[in-house]
Amino acid sequence: MVVTQVNKITELSKQSGIISIDHVTFYVSNAKYAAAYFTRFFGFKLIGYKGLETGSRSMCSYVVSQGDVVLVLCSTYQYGSGDLWSIVSSRGDMVKDVAFTVDCLDNYLNKLVTNGVEIIRQPWTESDQHGSVRMAVISPFGDITHTLIERTRYSGTFLPSFHPPLESKNFDEPLDISPEYRVSFKVIDHFVPVLNAGQLEKAFDYYSKLGLETFYSVDDFKVKTDKSRLNMVIVANKSKDVIINLVAPSAEDKLSQLHEFLKYNNGSGIQHLALRTDNIVATVTGLRARGVQFLEIPSSYYDKLRQRLDSSKISIKESIDTLEKLQILCDFNENGYILQLFGKPLFDRPTSYLEIIQRNNHSGFGAGNVQALYEAVERLQKQRGNL
Ligand SMILES: [Fe+2]
Repeated sequence: MVVTQVNKITELSKQSGIISIDHVTFYVSNAKYAAAYFTRFFGFKLIGYKGLETGSRSMCSYVVSQGDVVLVLCSTYQYGSGDLWSIVSSRGDMVKDVAFTVDCLDNYLNKLVTNGVEIIRQPWTESDQHGSVRMAVISPFGDITHTLIERTRYSGTFLPSFHPPLESKNFDEPLDISPEYRVSFKVIDHFVPVLNAGQLEKAFDYYSKLGLETFYSVDDFKVKTDKSRLNMVIVANKSKDVIINLVAPSAEDKLSQLHEFLKYNNGSGIQHLALRTDNIVATVTGLRARGVQFLEIPSSYYDKLRQRLDSSKISIKESIDTLEKLQILCDFNENGYILQLFGKPLFDRPTSYLEIIQRNNHSGFGAGNVQALYEAVERLQKQRGNL
């Protein structure tokens, strides 16, 4: 269905456009708690702050980073009013904006406008002693936005309006002095918007207008649980540094985990970020030592995995016993393999997740694990009274 529209991609991606994911902004009810959560549980470092002490009167933001992953956690001082308050009231703590680094913002915006993309916030420039950045904002669906950032003339740590963490706000005590707590995320591998049923094609069309191309698409992806089927199309930029898995529930299903997401998020939104590591065994060991909880996978999955690997030519460097102990899933083809697992919901609502992924010469997304993942989520969905 959606693949036919790939011809709409203009020369956009050949000339200027999206280079990488710059950072991800969460709107949350308490940014200080969220910053402590991401630093203590997930091993991020606090690198920036803005709030009352730095002249930000309406909103407070903490910036945490690890490798090339940068997260901004924002909450509002204006209880009962403002965008942030109303969005968090409606959707709970959530991913609000995935910012993209672009190479020449004004040229890129001209092409977007030619392609019919609405610019939600017209371009503006911010400067400090480290130089200047130019930014604009667009919106693919719902409350989700993409800030487009040209930062070639900027050498500061993050963005001009942010300050180094204040001494009084710095709860970033390094837990990872000890090796068993060490976590090493490199980059955001992909992110996954969940769209209302029937909205997948529109979202695909939107991202095509941004210059992203189809990576692959699957209709009614082969999930064999009773409750869930899904439609999916994956788009990416040329370098594959930006990969977006667009997902929507099949129109006939009513109780799938995607419906649970859409109910608690009050519509379309971003369900998970996948963080890539080069050493998933050490990273998950560190995360578990820090108290992070993951989806539970039955031992029958690992029995089947051992059988499938026995009849395959691929060899997995990691011990399957270790993968089983840490509940890490494995999918493979003739060229390589991926290892992946999902955390339990990040916040109160069953909406936002982190996936941890390691790639060994494999560019897939764990099609062979989808059934095990769906069954693991459905066990929790049942506990929540939503299945
Ligand atoms: Fe994923």
